[in-house]
Amino acid sequence: MSGPVILSVCGKGGVGKTSISALLSRVLAEDPKKRVLAIDADPAVGLATALDLPVARTVDDIRNSLIDRLTDKGGGGGRDKAAVLAELDYQLAEALAERDNLAFLAVGRPETDGCYCRLNAFLKEVIAQTAGRFDYVVIDGEAGIEQVNRRVMERITHLLLVTDASVKGRRVAETIEDVARKMTGFSHAGLFVNQVRDQGDVPAVMADTRLTVVGSMADDPVLHRFDREGQSLLGLPEGPSLDALRLLADTFVRNAT
Ligand SMILES: Nc1ncnc2c1ncn2[C@@H]1O[C@H](COP(=O)(O)OP(=O)(O)OP(=O)(O)O)[C@@H](O)[C@H]1O
Ligand SMILES: [Mg+2]
Repeated sequence: MSGPVILSVCGKGGVGKTSISALLSRVLAEDPKKRVLAIDADPAVGLATALDLPVARTVDDIRNSLIDRLTDKGGGGGRDKAAVLAELDYQLAEALAERDNLAFLAVGRPETDGCYCRLNAFLKEVIAQTAGRFDYVVIDGEAGIEQVNRRVMERITHLLLVTDASVKGRRVAETIEDVARKMTGFSHAGLFVNQVRDQGDVPAVMADTRLTVVGSMADDPVLHRFDREGQSLLGLPEGPSLDALRLLADTFVRNAT
């Protein structure tokens, strides 16, 4: 495949998007030759904790500082687009928290109310600007369809829709896929069934959705404990959850046809 895999993890609130984004980033970074960028596109910032990486500067901070520098106030009102992109590049390089081949970027939260649209538009530029330096970009999206609808996810190649066993979970996933078909150019989409508690859960989901199920993960008591204790998922011991994500990485991310 040419170009990076840009994968967005979407779904209803609380279905496990952040946990799956963190674990998927971890397993993709197990190959030291591959560079992975994890983006927390949810202003509620949970992925940083899950990956135990610091949030030094956010996309919102970069946007504010670029605006300051490029407006007349900063004396740079006449600068052309190339100069702006060079400045953006420089600031992004500074903002990435990196551990070996795993980098992290958080979108942050605008201080002024009502700025999410512009921040989301800027996030789209940031994704376009940084993705080429990585083999895999994993985006932990906010719940629902807003970012897909606003074309923030325009450049994604893979849409990973997460659901639990609930009917509502899969209906939300289907709605997101519908919107994404119109608003983004993804080439692969799949449904991941999370928090499986019963043997019949996955077949029941499969029987009642037009989406292709590409993986599943059981309700994992160790994940519950890690969550209670606020531990990074980079330290999650080997077990069924990591196995499920490795399988997903192999079949959906690397070998998707
Ligand atoms: N397979 C699982 N087994 C046990 N607990 C899980 C599993 N998947 C997720 N969880 C737990 O479910 C809760 C929600 O997970 P997570 O924060 O990853 O969901 P989310 O979709 O990112 O939520 P939000 O929409 O609020 O961002 C967390 O407490 C997490 O630890
Ligand atoms: Mg989340």
